[in-house]
Amino acid sequence: MPVISFANTKGGAGKTTALLLLATELIRRGKTVCVVDTDPQRWISRWFEGASAPGDKVMLATYVTAYTLQRTIEENAPKFDYVLVDLPGSQSPLLATAIGLSDHILIPIQGSSMDAQGGAQVLEILAYLDQRANISIPHSVVLSRVNSMITTRSMLVVKGLLAQRSVHVLDTPLIERAPFRDMFDLKTYLHLMDPAKASNLDKALANAAAFADEVIDLAEKSRQKPRIRAA
Ligand SMILES: Nc1ncnc2c1ncn2[C@@H]1O[C@H](COP(=O)(O)OP(=O)(O)OP(=O)(O)O)[C@@H](O)[C@H]1O
Ligand SMILES: [Mg+2]
Repeated sequence: MPVISFANTKGGAGKTTALLLLATELIRRGKTVCVVDTDPQRWISRWFEGASAPGDKVMLATYVTAYTLQRTIEENAPKFDYVLVDLPGSQSPLLATAIGLSDHILIPIQGSSMDAQGGAQVLEILAYLDQRANISIPHSVVLSRVNSMITTRSMLVVKGLLAQRSVHVLDTPLIERAPFRDMFDLKTYLHLMDPAKASNLDKALANAAAFADEVIDLAEKSRQKPRIRAA
């Protein structure tokens, strides 16, 4: 079933947070999820290992390297409703391998130029494959850590640049929300957090649900598209 990778060669762009939000939302909806951790820092693995309610719908594949990624995906894609791949925030051969094995690449980009550069490296590889090898890998940018109150100038610049390059941007940005950080630190699922202790949990849940709706739809469409175009 759909394989979605989260990529940005810049650290801290919001890859692992976006993956965890999608994973927890899919699990809440009764879907089965295999999370593949290729990041040597093992952030998502640490979350899973300490998670308060691991559940039986989710499996973690950890310590996955460029050598074991293909086998891990091929083994688990038929068994799970979704396979989500967390990539490291640095340049690595894992990126090319993951791109080749994914139905959809999600590129979280914050409204900062450094972050956009990390995203641009991923977009350049995808554009190169498309133009030189006629291989089109569906991909989208998700704007991450967006301030709920103000649209910053740098965010507008990033959006403008993406529009110029005809890059698909999700309608739903991931808002900067305390529960998104807390779910990570407290090692819990977003929907299992105590509303009395998390500020604006309802808004955070609505944001995660809208994000998941869009990604589920995209992943389904991506699977139906041919990846190799006739030259
Ligand atoms: N929408 C958000 N709201 C609040 N905090 C966020 C949000 N997105 C990310 N963060 C916080 O920003 C930090 C970096 O996010 P995250 O770990 O998801 O980025 P990453 O791209 O996976 O980084 P790395 O490349 O190092 O793996 C974390 O502390 C995370 O809790
Ligand atoms: Mg990460």
